[in-house]
Amino acid sequence: MKTEIKSLKNLPDENGYYGKFGGSFIPPQLVEPLKEIEREYLKAKNDPEFQKEYADLLKNYVGRPSPLYFAKNITEKLGGAKVYLKREDLNHTGAHKINHCLGEVLLAKRMGKKKVLAETGAGQHGVALATAAALLGLECEIHMGSIDIEKQQPNVIRMKLLGAKVVEVNTGGKCLKDAVDSAFATFIEEYKTTFFAIGSVVGPHPYPMIVRDFQSIVGKEAKKQILEQEKRLPDYIIGCVGGGSNAIGLFNEFLDDEVSLIGVEPAGRGSGIGEHAATITYGTEGVIHGMKTIVLQDEKGEPNSVHSIASGLDYPGVGPIHAYLKAIGRVEYTYASDDETIKAFLELSKVEGIIPALESAHAVAYALKLASTLSKDKIIIVNLSGRGDKDIDYVASLLKI
Ligand SMILES: Cc1ncc(COP(=O)(O)O)c(C=O)c1O
Repeated sequence: MKTEIKSLKNLPDENGYYGKFGGSFIPPQLVEPLKEIEREYLKAKNDPEFQKEYADLLKNYVGRPSPLYFAKNITEKLGGAKVYLKREDLNHTGAHKINHCLGEVLLAKRMGKKKVLAETGAGQHGVALATAAALLGLECEIHMGSIDIEKQQPNVIRMKLLGAKVVEVNTGGKCLKDAVDSAFATFIEEYKTTFFAIGSVVGPHPYPMIVRDFQSIVGKEAKKQILEQEKRLPDYIIGCVGGGSNAIGLFNEFLDDEVSLIGVEPAGRGSGIGEHAATITYGTEGVIHGMKTIVLQDEKGEPNSVHSIASGLDYPGVGPIHAYLKAIGRVEYTYASDDETIKAFLELSKVEGIIPALESAHAVAYALKLASTLSKDKIIIVNLSGRGDKDIDYVASLLKI
């Protein structure tokens, strides 16, 4: 019997599906380990002790709630809608990723695992996981493409300082997708002792649900904060979409409300294969990394090579939740190019004194464009998913400054 889904917040169904997307396409030996993760997670979700420990870490270790900041200078300069920034960049470790990493490592510990394992693109998930593992006393192994290792050196050093083992991945395009492949292969070998702590709302069920639930704190806070500050809900909510964790984290609490939700994908430097990573915009239905979703792929189902100026967005798949929200028309998905992103990165830095992560700058780019077309009584919330410290060397080399 199928569970009746009344609210979009109640997804997925009991088989891990969001409409026709999601599910679990995995080798037979992983079926039982993933079922065990789901069972333990559902117990933890209803365990007041687990939730208390998690909430305490979010407050006292991460520094939550993150501020909902009214970006006055940018708003005045654009002369249109009011722009608010949900400041996930101010979290300990500098991005939203710590929200789900602490949850995942607490779960791994509860399950008696000795080690956590993951992939990383920009290095933010790797740093956050290494941090949570250091805090909670577990070993940590992070797989990262060699191109990303070169682009995101400060984060590689941070992971090592935090005691994590960083595994360089030299296969395929040497980026995020290849890091996921490599981490999955290790998980198949080590699942008895190791917890695979995936970095976004991707992968087989139950991962998209678990990561979504841990990230939903962002939207819960934002709703309370905007009601306090503006006494009403916003008109638009905007987040960048790689796998989709920061976007759904902010969207989730507003899914049943009359608020426009906009996901911004990386349009890179063109619409040809290998020039972008705008999966929902250009992709087709397929299976990648254990989930049915939208994929940038060739006729044989092989993932395309992808490009984005932001390492955390260059992934040829997307979370099944987003594929579903696109299919039912609840979220609008659009894109920002590398050039628009760099412009927004510089603009927010100079006008507001906030250097955003290149990933987040995609959402900022679209928000700035939108705000200037709207009247002053409209309100936009942008998820500032991370800070740009990790990107400054790369941007400096691009701009030759
Ligand atoms: C700051 C930041 N924002 C966004 C992302 C994209 O991931 P997601 O779409 O899962 O939020 C990343 C990924 O590394 C990131 O570091």
